[in-house]
Amino acid sequence: MKILVTGGLGFIGSETAISLIKAGHTPIIVDNLYNAKASVVNRIEAITGVRPEFHQIDVCDKEKLDELFSQTKVEAVIHFAGYKAVGESVSKPLMYYRNNLDSTLSLLECMLKHDVKNIIFSSSATIYGSPDSVPLRETSPRKEATNPYGQTKVIIEKILEDVSKVNEGFHAVLLRYFNPIGAHPSGLLGEDPNGIPNNLMPYISQVSIGKLPKLRVFGDDYKTVDGTGVRDYIHVLDLAEGHVAALKALDKDPGVYIYNLGTGRGTSVLELVKAFEEATGIKIPYEIAPRRAGDVDAVYANCDKAYEELGWKAKLSIKDACKDSYNFQKKNPNGIED
Ligand code: UFG
Repeated sequence: MKILVTGGLGFIGSETAISLIKAGHTPIIVDNLYNAKASVVNRIEAITGVRPEFHQIDVCDKEKLDELFSQTKVEAVIHFAGYKAVGESVSKPLMYYRNNLDSTLSLLECMLKHDVKNIIFSSSATIYGSPDSVPLRETSPRKEATNPYGQTKVIIEKILEDVSKVNEGFHAVLLRYFNPIGAHPSGLLGEDPNGIPNNLMPYISQVSIGKLPKLRVFGDDYKTVDGTGVRDYIHVLDLAEGHVAALKALDKDPGVYIYNLGTGRGTSVLELVKAFEEATGIKIPYEIAPRRAGDVDAVYANCDKAYEELGWKAKLSIKDACKDSYNFQKKNPNGIED
């Protein structure tokens, strides 16, 4: 299947492009390089032996997008492109709403104009807000998100539901990711955040190579196994495979299909630190710091629906992910270079 992949040079997008190629599909990658490097195309080629088609286009640029849709007939779109830093979204809300919503609206208008009626969207567990209970099921209530980034995910889910109601034959698959970690085992691809990382695994990885002095554990008085926050960490390779599996939903009746992509297991911050130490043999110094605003005790998924309907489940362990994150960090101490 020929599939347009927006944000296809990013952390999850590039791994998904690899999984698509391996499954015999043809990804057409669109990326504006805001948060990714053009050299990722070479790295995808080195891993798969196939050089994917790449267009440096901003998805907000409707004219260029329209031109691409006119030139290339795609059957489906996987939409990753978007800003994703929670903290930055709080300080720059308009930038987040403008970019994430504008790009999605332009994309949907182009898709409908060119009669492309299949979209898989990168949603997030953030749409469950502060959950009333865990594990989270797809039927758990969607809440107001606690930050503009999360709110764009909530709004885009709603936009896709509305669009699918009035466009015959439209399929929208909403994939709600939990916490993606890990990297490609080759060390060629992985998470490459700008500046000091906000997320736990890239922070630990940078501490492991001495780039940062120590981890700050945000809170040890949560109602969890050891008082530190619990999340559902999923290896990015498993997550990428989830997108290939999600293509099966496009064969179902038109409509909206929602799947949680996680492992179904919760891991605390200190458990992740311990797993990292065991997987790499490197000690991670840490100190307990105050809670981070907006964080909740525990967020993890029930992923039965993805298994029952798509035959997908996460296979890799937390330790696999720690090993791969470390390998990537060691080989790319300054991130992916062009
Ligand atoms: N944490 C620390 N120290 C750090 C960073 C994080 O102790 O330096 C803790 C957090 O308090 C939390 C856990 O590690 O308990 C995970 O934090 P992350 O920032 O890695 O991830 P979040 O669960 O806060 O957020 C992630 C993504 C969001 C997404 C959300 C979905 O970053 O994009 O999952 O639930 F919306």
